[in-house]
Parts: sequence; C-alpha cells; structure tokens
Amino acid sequence: MLDFTGKVALVTGGGAGIGRAIAETFGRAGASVVVAEIDARRADDVRAALESAGVDALVSPCDVTDRAAVDGLMDAVKARFGALDVLVNNVGDFLGVTKRFELVTDDELDALYATNLKSVFLTTRAAIPLLREGGSVISISSIEAFRGIPMTTVYSAFKHAITGFTRSLALELGPKHIRVNAIAPETTDTPQVPIHAMIAQEHQDHIERWIPLGRFGKPEDAAGAALFLASDLAGWITGTTINLDGGALAAGGWYRDPRGIWTNVPVVTGNGFNF
Ligand SMILES: NC(=O)c1ccc[n+]([C@@H]2O[C@H](COP(=O)([O-])OP(=O)(O)OC[C@H]3O[C@@H](n4cnc5c(N)ncnc54)[C@H](O)[C@@H]3O)[C@@H](O)[C@H]2O)c1
Repeated sequence: MLDFTGKVALVTGGGAGIGRAIAETFGRAGASVVVAEIDARRADDVRAALESAGVDALVSPCDVTDRAAVDGLMDAVKARFGALDVLVNNVGDFLGVTKRFELVTDDELDALYATNLKSVFLTTRAAIPLLREGGSVISISSIEAFRGIPMTTVYSAFKHAITGFTRSLALELGPKHIRVNAIAPETTDTPQVPIHAMIAQEHQDHIERWIPLGRFGKPEDAAGAALFLASDLAGWITGTTINLDGGALAAGGWYRDPRGIWTNVPVVTGNGFNF
C-alpha cells in the first residue's frame, strides 16, 4: 500500500460505487479524506465507515453542480486542512438517458452537462488554489470516451470532453508541478450500473468470455488506479488517461463465443439486458 500520510484527498460522489472505493482506499493509505456527496444517507454512511476505520474525514452533503455549494466546500477544506493534495472528480452519470440523439430534450442536455462536465469544471477551478505543489487532479472518465456508444451520445460526448480538459489543464498546471490525469473504466459494478441485475440471466455465464481479462470492473480497480496516479510512482505522468477495462478496448469487437472461440460476429441477439 502506498503511503499518503499527511496528504489530503477530496473525492466527489464518494458516498457510493467507484467514488466510495476511492475514498476508502485513500483513507487506508493514511490520507485525510474529504467526500462531497449529494445523497445525505450515503454521506452519513461513508462518514461512519471512514471514522470507524480511524480516517480523518470531512464528509460534506454537497452538490458539485452548484457553484455556491462547491465554493462552500472548498472554504471548509481550507479551514479544516489548509490545503489539498489530491482531487478526484468522480461524479458522473448517464442519468438513464438512453435514446436516439434527436429525442434528447433540452432539460436532459442541461442535466447531463451539469453532472458530467460542469461539476468537473466547478470543482477543479475552486480546488486549484488549494492544491499543493506535487498535487494531482484525477477525473473519472469512461471507456465511452474512447469508443462510441449508441443511444448514449451526450454522456459519451461529455466523457470525450474530459480527455481534452485533462490534456489542456495538464499543460497549465505542469509548471506548478500539479499533475492532471483521468481514468477510463469499462462497465463497473456500482449502484449506477448494477451489472448482475442489468444483464439478462441467460447471458450471465458469458461474461467471462466478453472481456479479455474475464470480468467486468469492480470499484476497487478504479481505486487502485487513482492511488497510483496520485502517488510519486506516477510522478512523470500527466495529461493522460489510464484505460481501466480488462482489455476491452484492445479487443474492439472481439470476444469468445460460448465454446471459447474468438469471434467478432455477434452471437447474442437483442441487447442482452433486462430492458
Ligand atoms: N459504473 C460504471 O460502469 C462506469 C463506467 C465508466 C465510467 N463511470 C464513471 O465513474 C464515475 C462513478 O460512477 P459510479 O458508477 O460509481 O456512480 P454511482 O452513481 O454508483 O455513484 C456516484 C455517487 O455520486 C453521487 N453524486 C451524484 N451526483 C452528485 C452531485 N451532483 N454532487 C455530489 N455527489 C453526487 C451519488 O449520490 C453517488 O453516491 C462516474 O463519473 C461515471 O460516469 C462508471
């Protein structure tokens, strides 16, 4: 385990899923942990978990799409810890908007922007003055930033934008020795994407043949990548994205059929999901 004793890490959306695993992992590594979480019950839950693990934690019931709330959060961080070493922009959600692009409403466009990109802009902008030299900004992107996904076009576009944001901000902050990177997970089992509830029962046995490394993601996979990127081991890595996908992007459309034979010809009919 890498040692983050004396460091302060802020994780947005740290009350569940990938964000929670990241928050708890930084806590186990010795960091003080700040969590911004919109859901009050999840905020209480992660606060209790971090405190019972002996982590110096500040958990704020904060909506990171709201500028005043984000500024208030940074004031609280400054008052409690004085500075930040790691910012993890984890909040993001496809918001259940899976439809043809021409049917996406203005309200859905605004909501997807607020959750997937504006939250990153607001939080990073407010955090930069607090980030110490040697600090690190990590945004949770998606494999959908590097391949197309039908019926989820707007979410995918905002995740692509994270790539550009990461590259450009890395240049700006490089001279301050603050590194800026992203992590792009393939499907990961979380409350937002409860894999085993989503995939139709008759297809569950195929999962191990769909991804080269034989499984979908766990929140702990992203936590490991975040800890590495924030550590001195990644001290010369900036402006880039780690693909966290078990080899899915390398495979493209290739996977193994029920007999274990590699194919790029679909053998599942329908969408394979329970919807
Ligand atoms: N789960 C996946 O398959 C997957 C795949 C690729 C990328 N991602 C990305 O990983 C990140 C985390 O996804 P997840 O599946 O763990 O999500 P999740 O919905 O399971 O958890 C997200 C947490 O963020 C909180 N949150 C949502 N909006 C917020 C806001 N405005 N302010 C503060 N907190 C807020 C939620 O209450 C929740 O606790 C997202 O950026 C998502 O796009 C997820």
